[in-house]
Amino acid sequence: MLSINPFAELTTVIPSFLMQYFVIAMVLLIVIGTGLDMLHKKNVVYFFRNAQKAKQSAKTELSAGKKTAVILKTVAHDIATTSELGMGKRRIAHVLGMYGTILFWLGSVILIFKYTDGNVAPSYISIVWHVGAILTCLGGYWFWFFLRVDVSAEANPWYRVITADLFVLALLACATFGLAWSFSQSAGMNVLSYLFFILFIVSNLVLFGGVYWSKFAHMFYKPGAAIQKNLAEADGSRDNLPPPADAPKQFGLGIKREEPKHY
Ligand code: HEM
Repeated sequence: MLSINPFAELTTVIPSFLMQYFVIAMVLLIVIGTGLDMLHKKNVVYFFRNAQKAKQSAKTELSAGKKTAVILKTVAHDIATTSELGMGKRRIAHVLGMYGTILFWLGSVILIFKYTDGNVAPSYISIVWHVGAILTCLGGYWFWFFLRVDVSAEANPWYRVITADLFVLALLACATFGLAWSFSQSAGMNVLSYLFFILFIVSNLVLFGGVYWSKFAHMFYKPGAAIQKNLAEADGSRDNLPPPADAPKQFGLGIKREEPKHY
């Protein structure tokens, strides 16, 4: 199953160009959803105003080379390894889900645009698609069942669903139904395979059509914010925030009673 291109098998029912139009429509939905989200929250306007204001209290003018170095370091560390999540399970789960999703989407685009016209896909590309979906499931289900703040810190049951869960649930549905579709297709279970395919399409429509209401756009905002934060640190403006106190950490013995998790 891992080395089979499920989209190629599908061309007997759905023409290649329709699959390609679907992918393009999903990209347009991301652009529209994120654009509307930015207009509604005015977060980008705030972001640039804040950056402009902070610039006035900069202690040094960064050269283009220094700026590039800060940006590259932010990409390699803060963004590529989601360092803001600390050293624990949260970060491992996120990295699994993030790279899984990137591989899954990259695999989908290559398989659909290059290998649904009769050309047979090299097996490693189909493997990338399947492995991407599996990693997304590993990171996503780990997060959903054990790491979500409302479950791990607020003692809510794992099956409690709120609007804020739209992104993670739709992402998990895409990866899970994608795998189920591919498995049932390669096992020759035709009826099941059509059912899972329809669920796969519906979950993609929810994921990409729900960008405006979900946390989808954090994958664009977070990198921007990390770059701005590190540039502000390098030029000394620190986003007009005070430097960390140069004093011993004294929180009293109460801090040892329980691991801090009620955030
Ligand atoms: C393909 C790219 C990405 C995917 C698929 C992805 C996926 C996810 C998912 C599923 C969640 C859980 C959402 C929820 O609270 O319900 C999440 C949360 C989060 N993401 Fe991402 N993400 C991506 C990129 C990024 C990037 C680039 C950053 C930072 C530079 C980032 C930082 C975070 C943070 C800080 C959280 C909160 C985590 C927590 O509460 O444990 N993400 N992401």
